[in-house]
Amino acid sequence: MRRVESECSLTVNGVEHAVSGLHPGESLLDALRERCGLRGSKGACEEGECGSCTVLVDGQAVCSCLTLAASVSGCSIVTVEGVGSSGAADLQEAFLRAGAVQCGFCTPGLIVAADALLSRNPHPSLDEVREGLAGNLCRCTGYGRIVEAVLDTAGQRRSQR
Ligand code: FES
Ligand code: FES
Repeated sequence: MRRVESECSLTVNGVEHAVSGLHPGESLLDALRERCGLRGSKGACEEGECGSCTVLVDGQAVCSCLTLAASVSGCSIVTVEGVGSSGAADLQEAFLRAGAVQCGFCTPGLIVAADALLSRNPHPSLDEVREGLAGNLCRCTGYGRIVEAVLDTAGQRRSQR
């Protein structure tokens, strides 16, 4: 994480965005949505409780609502818009197949969190998936289908190796 600055550049999904006049307290979530035009990351609680705003910063899943935009200047940021292009389209397809998307508000954060989980642990157990997604709340699905989609993706990736 870098020092807070009013001018910075954000590298999001491999594209550099020059950002000027950044408010020192401006969140990464707001910067992504309002300055970079990437509206896939959702803001719900904006208190670090729901995970709907999850993005990857240098490969780590973080709540973008609690991350200062200027503090991640120079880092590699991946949003849900970039997850598919980095090879996780299978995860998105598995969510659809399993019926793990209802209203869809939680889905971008879950996809990013699941991508991070499978990157660090390609063969998670049921409990490890539950634990890995514990920071992402969903009020619609009851979580079973989400967990199923992540395990299905892990299995498919295993069978393709
Ligand atoms: S909006 Fe960031 S954790 Fe809820
Ligand atoms: S699908 Fe509606 S909150 Fe998760």
